Amino acid sequence: MTGINPGDNHRRVPEHVAIIMDGNGRWAKQRGLPRTAGHRAGAKSVRAVVEESVRHGVGVLTLFAFSSENWRRPPGEVMVLMELFMSTLQVEVQRLVEHGIRLRIIGDLSAFSTRLQAQFAHAEALTQDNDRLVLQIAANYGGRWDITQAARTMARDVLAGRLTPDDINEAAVAARLSFPGVPDPDLFIRTGGEKRISNFLLWQSAYAELYFSDLMWPEFDAAAYAAALNDFARRQRRFGLTGEQVAASVSVVGG
Ligand code: IPE
Ligand code: IPE
Ligand code: MG
Repeated sequence: MTGINPGDNHRRVPEHVAIIMDGNGRWAKQRGLPRTAGHRAGAKSVRAVVEESVRHGVGVLTLFAFSSENWRRPPGEVMVLMELFMSTLQVEVQRLVEHGIRLRIIGDLSAFSTRLQAQFAHAEALTQDNDRLVLQIAANYGGRWDITQAARTMARDVLAGRLTPDDINEAAVAARLSFPGVPDPDLFIRTGGEKRISNFLLWQSAYAELYFSDLMWPEFDAAAYAAALNDFARRQRRFGLTGEQVAASVSVVGG
């Protein structure tokens, strides 16, 4: 959903958290280990953040696992990342079911092996009725890819007579992005110390609160996540309004 909802001002726990899990390679390098050891260690942080999201009442968690640009890395590293996807999914899917977590994989999945695509589909199907948390893993995802594929779908819809150019508005674009119907991220976290978006959720993050942590992803634990959530809770989201307008509407709502 693209609607900028002033009611979001009052939420203390973000409904949707998006995370760029960065710093695996440097974490490993600092320890004299191969970069791939960092990716393995990062899986532990994923588990912690998923569990804490359920505990804190976050509704949607979107994790950037592999960007459309990460294919440019050395083939050996890409291969290990693919293997990790498979083995982690195999091990974790049962826990997702037990915890009531729904899994969605977002991105251009056509680039993955048919085996991995089948595994993604299987894991999504097993968890599709769960509603305690929606866990979205962004794999071969890019914000520009997402907007481009929405534009392509719109062009097809116009050609097919389902849409007229005058009907193209923000809602029409948002409805064609890769996860329609999910609220935009409220809190956008990046670990690893870099302060950039690296082509993650470009459209959807228009009004996300940004939070940068200097911790490398394998070091990002429950306490670090709680600190990010606390920081979010103290922010005043204005969505273009004045601080006074927001304060007045908060006191009306009583939040
Ligand atoms: C993030 O960690 C994981 C992926 C991009 C797959 P990096 O591998 O980017 O780690 P650094 O940034 O090199 O330390
Ligand atoms: C962003 O991290 C992508 C993921 C975490 C999956 P990168 O490490 O690829 O980003 P850059 O290259 O430093 O911008
Ligand atoms: Mg990186």
